[in-house]
Amino acid sequence: MMSSENFDAVNKAFSKQSGTFDADDRANIILTDMREQVYAHVNTFIKPKSVVLELNAGTGIDALHFASQGHSVHATDLSDGMIEQLNEKIKKHSSLSISSQQLSYDSLDVLHKKKFDYVFSNFGGLNCIDDLRKVTKHLPGLLHAGAYVTWVIMPPVCPWELAGIFKGRFRGALRRFHRDGVMAHLEGEYFKTYYFSLQQIKEAFGNDFVFIKSEGLGAIIPQPHRPDFPVKHPSLYKVLRAVDKGVRNNMPFNRWADHIIVTFQRK
Ligand SMILES: C[S@@+](CC[C@H](N)C(=O)[O-])C[C@H]1O[C@@H](n2cnc3c(N)ncnc32)[C@H](O)[C@@H]1O
Repeated sequence: MMSSENFDAVNKAFSKQSGTFDADDRANIILTDMREQVYAHVNTFIKPKSVVLELNAGTGIDALHFASQGHSVHATDLSDGMIEQLNEKIKKHSSLSISSQQLSYDSLDVLHKKKFDYVFSNFGGLNCIDDLRKVTKHLPGLLHAGAYVTWVIMPPVCPWELAGIFKGRFRGALRRFHRDGVMAHLEGEYFKTYYFSLQQIKEAFGNDFVFIKSEGLGAIIPQPHRPDFPVKHPSLYKVLRAVDKGVRNNMPFNRWADHIIVTFQRK
């Protein structure tokens, strides 16, 4: 699948999902907890009144959050439907500083006259590209010295998926290890997804950036596609959250998880 065909399929899939995206997100306790963890991570680095470039912003849930904190957010996404939802949100919250642009993250060169203090990408949007260098090559020119980049990306090793081996689900358990990507199925559309190790991410950032931190997101708590888990097993979920909090900043769970939150700083 050529990357342009892949992006067409990605656009169709996420456009179909866009109308129900926010309601599904709000109803999912695991996703809500994960977003809180991502916000806490970013809050340790972001300076007041930062100018943020958001990649694969979706419907703008995080753009709204960061703009409500006093930052100014330029939110970008590939999908027609997501951009429509994002623009609705911008209209509803017109006092906040959010702008939008339909833009694929491998075409950031069109932003060349702008400079940002922070580049943010949440929840695996970047797993839709085969090579992260197609994105990182644009970053040095877009960032002030000392600016931060925080990306939330799916790595190859996810303890919850590997546990499927014990139930005989070998294909599912090992699917993230395919070098040429894995076919994802969303809303009747098929597109390729790619999984990146912390080492591959570091290599993509290269010498213009310093690696600052990696934190597991969903190392021990179940994956968000099991939204009933916290409702059916509230006490167990509480225990798993506590264990997760204790291990997610340390090896190996700062790189083995459903997603990892990685932060780099522009030299
Ligand atoms: C799982 S959603 C996450 C949306 C948002 N970051 C959030 O946390 O709610 C993934 C998003 O990545 C976007 N995406 C995928 N490939 C993209 C690309 N090449 N350029 C920009 N956005 C892309 C999709 O359109 C979709 O909105």
